[in-house]
Amino acid sequence: MTNYLRRIILCDALILLIWASALLVRAMPPPNPVQCTQAGCKLYNSYGVWGDRKDCPVAAVVYPTTEEELRSAVANANKNHLKVRVVSGFSHTIPKLACPTNQSRAILISTERYDTSIDVDVASMTVTADAGAGLRAVIDRVEEEGLSLVAAPYWEGVSVGGVISTGAHGSSWRGRGGAVHDHVVGIRLIVPAKESEGFARVLDLRSGDPLLHAAKLSLGMLGVISKVTLMLERGFKRSISLNFTNDRGIEDEFMEHGKKYEFGDIQWYPSRHTAVYRYDDRLPINTSGDGVYDFVGFQSNFAIIAKSVRASEKSAEAARNTNAKCLLASSFLAYKKLTANGLKNNLIFTGYPVIGRQARMQTSGSCLYSPETAKDTACAWDPRIKGLFFYETTAIFSATTFVDFIRDVKKLRDMNPTSFCGVDVYNGFLIRFVPKSDAYLGQPEDSVVVDFNYYRADEAGTPRLNQDTWEEVEQMAFFKYGARPHWGKNRNVAFVGVEKKYPSFGRFVAARRAVDPANMLGSEWAEEVVFGRGVVDEDGCALEGRCVCSEDRHCSPGNGYYCRRGLVYGDARVCRCAGAAQ
Ligand SMILES: Cc1cc2nc3c(=O)[nH]c(=O)nc-3n(C[C@H](O)[C@H](O)[C@H](O)COP(=O)(O)OP(=O)(O)OC[C@H]3O[C@@H](n4cnc5c(N)ncnc54)[C@H](O)[C@@H]3O)c2cc1C
Ligand SMILES: *[C@@H]1O[C@H](CO)[C@@H](O)[C@H](O)[C@H]1NC(C)=O
Ligand SMILES: *[C@@H]1O[C@H](CO)[C@@H](O)[C@H](O)[C@H]1NC(C)=O
Ligand SMILES: *[C@@H]1O[C@H](CO)[C@@H](O)[C@H](O)[C@H]1NC(C)=O
Repeated sequence: MTNYLRRIILCDALILLIWASALLVRAMPPPNPVQCTQAGCKLYNSYGVWGDRKDCPVAAVVYPTTEEELRSAVANANKNHLKVRVVSGFSHTIPKLACPTNQSRAILISTERYDTSIDVDVASMTVTADAGAGLRAVIDRVEEEGLSLVAAPYWEGVSVGGVISTGAHGSSWRGRGGAVHDHVVGIRLIVPAKESEGFARVLDLRSGDPLLHAAKLSLGMLGVISKVTLMLERGFKRSISLNFTNDRGIEDEFMEHGKKYEFGDIQWYPSRHTAVYRYDDRLPINTSGDGVYDFVGFQSNFAIIAKSVRASEKSAEAARNTNAKCLLASSFLAYKKLTANGLKNNLIFTGYPVIGRQARMQTSGSCLYSPETAKDTACAWDPRIKGLFFYETTAIFSATTFVDFIRDVKKLRDMNPTSFCGVDVYNGFLIRFVPKSDAYLGQPEDSVVVDFNYYRADEAGTPRLNQDTWEEVEQMAFFKYGARPHWGKNRNVAFVGVEKKYPSFGRFVAARRAVDPANMLGSEWAEEVVFGRGVVDEDGCALEGRCVCSEDRHCSPGNGYYCRRGLVYGDARVCRCAGAAQ
């Protein structure tokens, strides 16, 4: 064993130890997404995927605190022919959706301070919250009344307005299902209006209003959401067990798994030949158990740990050492098994099943909280600590084609299992279930969602170890199987042809034309995503997912990366290192 590998292993043991004690120290909350200096203001993404690395300057930012202030911000903009974009106090969306174009001719509305009203109507079992209200605050308020919000993404660091605007989801095929927007029964939406109407008006959209189908998943492009009303259910508990097992037969089991468990999901680690089945069902509120799901990936990390994981990844990249990545992947997987992914029966994990209230089991994000003053820990991806930096690909499949996708990925894996270690360093392939939706930009059929994260280089032009594998999987998903991209994640190439994948896309566009004929809420950034226009023909564009390569210069010939065919999906064109398997 080389010294290098020994160092990695030692370093891992240390990581695990320190990670385990990370909860005992103080952490810094994420930075505010809007940062101003004398030179002006800039909008940042929480991961730092744009802001620093790709600028988003904003000339004017407003912070309304009431619906009337929000309306008058829109009215002022309309009167002065300014464009409007909205961002929450979180800015956790990966594509540059919230960024305004033509900065001097635009304003940014932040809902950060528009978060005070959270009204639970117990009789009708609904909650109406200001758009800027954080998901955690809403959930806790709802549970005080003995009710539960059924759907939420696994990450709680989102606003009510933001979470529905990108189609964010957890996992469930039952009832209204796992996507938050499918629980929306009302939205108060601010849209531009004629001068005689005061330049902006509030639409009170209720169930049955066709405009609600457009508004409940609208990427900030239809109007400014003031308030969101969500359907609730009687409070309940959840019982979760994780089965870490072999991935044999996963292609035959996923469908049954999605049907059998109300909130089931599957984590699949191809390089480890491991599948983690989450058995997750609803229990009556009076069942005993006070567990929490404090997902490991969202716990606070010592800055130095996140940095050292990043450093291990980087040196593995530099040395082209796939085995070092595989060691990281297997030690992280062992750690997750040991800690049950962050499930805790009480303060710690003592055994399955873990039973707890819906509020504590569905969504988490403990790295979000803690005093600003403590600088020792943060979310692992916090750009200030130069920790993890990765791509997130999220592809949404028709449930019936997903089986063939898994078979293809297995074929690719079997040709070279270690090429998937870089994905397994993160969460492997996370498989979740979302049902058919009546939102125009929602899923047109019962669907299976796959997320996978993978190393992203600091510099855009740097090719990455095994990137050909992940590019092939990405193209397989979006082009061979016609998967739909999650609106709040992904690289630009995932959005190519997206208009044709959502059958009601035209209705969404028509709704926009009707309520915002001057395209006040448009921005070139949002439009390049939504209309799949974000691909370019530039040197190195395929490295960043800004094109599919067709010539070597789209890769990095200088570093030995050339445009080549996919190994399993022959129509794929990927950047492969000369000398790697052909
Ligand atoms: C660590 C992490 C884990 C995640 N896990 C999941 C997951 O499990 N499942 C999942 O589906 N997603 C997940 N996501 C993605 C996340 O749920 C979405 O990106 C969500 O939209 C972020 O909400 P936000 O409040 O930060 O919105 P922002 O990023 O601020 O805004 C998102 C979009 O909504 C628009 N918008 C915001 N507020 C308004 C308003 N009041 N009116 C009109 N438009 C508005 C913005 O213009 C923008 O287009 C995760 C993200 C992170 C960082
Ligand atoms: C931005 O402004 C320029 C010049 O003022 C104009 O040509 C362009 O169309 C504008 N872009 C958008 C998206 O409004
Ligand atoms: C774990 O999953 C495998 C594959 O589905 C199954 O054969 C096994 O019985 C499961 N184990 C438990 C404890 O549920
Ligand atoms: C829970 O409440 C139901 C009635 O609401 C009752 O029948 C049941 O016995 C209770 N279960 C426990 C474990 O207390």
